[in-house]
Amino acid sequence: MDRNLALDFVRATEAAAISSAFWMGKGNEKSADQAAVEAMRKAFNVIDMDGTIVIGEGERDEAPMLYIGEKVGSGKGLKLDIAVDPLEGTTITARGDPNAMSVFAAAPTGCLLNAPDTYMNKIAVGPKCIDTVDLDASVEENLHAVADKLDKPIDEVTVIILDRDRHEEIIEKIRKCGCRIRLIRDGDIAGALAPAIEDSGVDILMGIGGAPEGVIAGVALKCLGGEIQARLKFRNEEEKQRAKKMGITDLDKKLNMNDLVCSEEAMFAATGVTDGTILKGVQFLSDGAKTHSIVMRAKTKTVRFIEATHKFEHFPDY
Ligand code: FBP
Repeated sequence: MDRNLALDFVRATEAAAISSAFWMGKGNEKSADQAAVEAMRKAFNVIDMDGTIVIGEGERDEAPMLYIGEKVGSGKGLKLDIAVDPLEGTTITARGDPNAMSVFAAAPTGCLLNAPDTYMNKIAVGPKCIDTVDLDASVEENLHAVADKLDKPIDEVTVIILDRDRHEEIIEKIRKCGCRIRLIRDGDIAGALAPAIEDSGVDILMGIGGAPEGVIAGVALKCLGGEIQARLKFRNEEEKQRAKKMGITDLDKKLNMNDLVCSEEAMFAATGVTDGTILKGVQFLSDGAKTHSIVMRAKTKTVRFIEATHKFEHFPDY
């Protein structure tokens, strides 16, 4: 993968983040999402790549832009599979809550799991806890294993988990172990990255979130040297049929990093929309905006944080 593409990808997440950040706290999820999608789609036009959206805004008949199968880029460069979430955290943005971001991931054609829009059970840890947890082990076993590996008492282990009714039982078990919990309203891509980011204060992500988000988090964790294990969780027969149509044969498979992204030639970029654990949100200045992004490559494990100021007279600068 051409490493210079990284900056092009950041331009796309920056454009999406700035465009959606105008909608922060205005109670309008749809407009915030649409602004992000349109800006990201436009930014892709000028990138020299032969990209295909494999994870995006939905099927062709339900999304006008960034739909699954859509070709993006000039068509000239590398053949890439692209996974995007132009606005990860539409409700977060509409409420002005923390941790909304614009995210992008890419890998050579055929290297990203074509995940259907269903749920996924996930467990994610940082580099120090690789080979420590098992999606099929009990909550207690996993938490004690993390505490041992990090050499800290169990009551200092911090779990990040989506605040959902479906997590009532697991939250109860985490609390019984004595662990600390960071309950998040939305945004489990940022949640999955957190254990792999030094100083995030988070040791492990647990629970069920979106499957597309799981694949994107897989790319990020490959770049950060962390680990995610996952299993698709279907709500009905229709979702199972859809997964089969997308090429998934073993619906119950425990998915490891390589099942989610099977190449070291993968890249991840994200720009903060609202302030979060990893990234600051968009700040509007009198004549422009400031953005904070992360961009990473799996091959070299280079992690770059990019702070940029954009002048509105030149925005978007592509
Ligand atoms: P949106 O960006 O579509 O708002 O998704 C936010 C999110 O919280 C994801 O981070 C997470 O994976 C998923 O929704 C969880 O789904 P649900 O809200 O149905 O529990």
